[in-house]
Amino acid sequence: MSKKIFSGVQPTGNLHLGNYLGAIKNFVELSSGKDNQCIFCVVDLHAITVKQNPKELKKNIRETAATFIASGIDPNQSIIFNQSMVSAHAEAAWILSCVSKIGWLNRMTQFKEKAGKDKEKASIGLYSYPVLMAADILLYDATHVPVGDDQKQHLELCRDIAQKFNNDYNVTDFLQVPEPLIHKKFSRIMSLKDGKKKMSKSDPSDLSRINLTDQKDEIVNKIKKAKTDNSLMPENSKNLNKRPEVENLLGIYSSLKNQNLEESINEFQRKNFSEFKEKLSDVLVEKIDPISKEIKKLLDDVKYLDKILLEGSNKANEIASKKIKEIRKLVGF
Ligand code: AMP
Ligand code: TRP
Repeated sequence: MSKKIFSGVQPTGNLHLGNYLGAIKNFVELSSGKDNQCIFCVVDLHAITVKQNPKELKKNIRETAATFIASGIDPNQSIIFNQSMVSAHAEAAWILSCVSKIGWLNRMTQFKEKAGKDKEKASIGLYSYPVLMAADILLYDATHVPVGDDQKQHLELCRDIAQKFNNDYNVTDFLQVPEPLIHKKFSRIMSLKDGKKKMSKSDPSDLSRINLTDQKDEIVNKIKKAKTDNSLMPENSKNLNKRPEVENLLGIYSSLKNQNLEESINEFQRKNFSEFKEKLSDVLVEKIDPISKEIKKLLDDVKYLDKILLEGSNKANEIASKKIKEIRKLVGF
């Protein structure tokens, strides 16, 4: 069956190994599927839900687009664009926010995490962020949405919003209810410094993550400094969840090698960490260093990147403007 794929990444800088293994690697695989129609969006409207420096934002929009291309997405086959260039996203988000319930949004754990203790001070945009995400997906009749595990709840909300809209306006199957595509394994990459914390661009310590712009020396150094424990490499997967940092590093290794955890465990059974870390650095450098080099090369050619984003936006706009027209009509405008 041919799939209509839509996904988004925020241009907030420091794209890292978690973004790559949790999402972008999957985008690349899906985009090479012959019958798949893929749309990858740089979600700049989402980025401004927390304060951004305008110059940095502009740079990060291009860097995110460059990361997509450097990772292997072909802009001639997939649509790559940035959200703010297609005004239907903001318009659909408003309309969908009028069928979404406050109670649904109150359950969103990402808002709770991002807003922190003082929720009164968080922006309204940060609160309604998942409705904009639903608009992104529903405008393109996406059938499948590849994301990391942390976005699962937002996708469930998107499904609820689609069904509620279809019900309220009496239009069976008008908004396509999308399926999440979340890897069962390795869909949550953890910090190199704390196996209980997600690898994140907002972690103040750069040693907690491998950035997709890191070069060989930085990667090797970060793996050398990655937290482990005093025992040897595990013999089997029993009780591995009690050693979250080790489990995470083994997960990263397995995901990069496209093998399952058991195979990786067997490969390093009872060995010293230094031996494992050396092999892990090797596969990371092999995968990430070429991406990092290609990102740098692409960023030197701003004109090319802007052309890709403009062409992508034109194509996206063609699809989204048709859908928003139908939505307007249904609503009674
Ligand atoms: P963001 O950069 O927050 O827009 O996230 C882009 C994509 O990367 C989303 O699909 C996330 O689910 C995924 N992602 C972000 N951090 C991680 C992580 N630590 N592990 C796995 N996937 C992640
Ligand atoms: N909220 C997603 C994240 O933080 C990014 C995103 C925005 C997205 N719109 C989307 C992902 C639509 C998938 C589909 O990772």
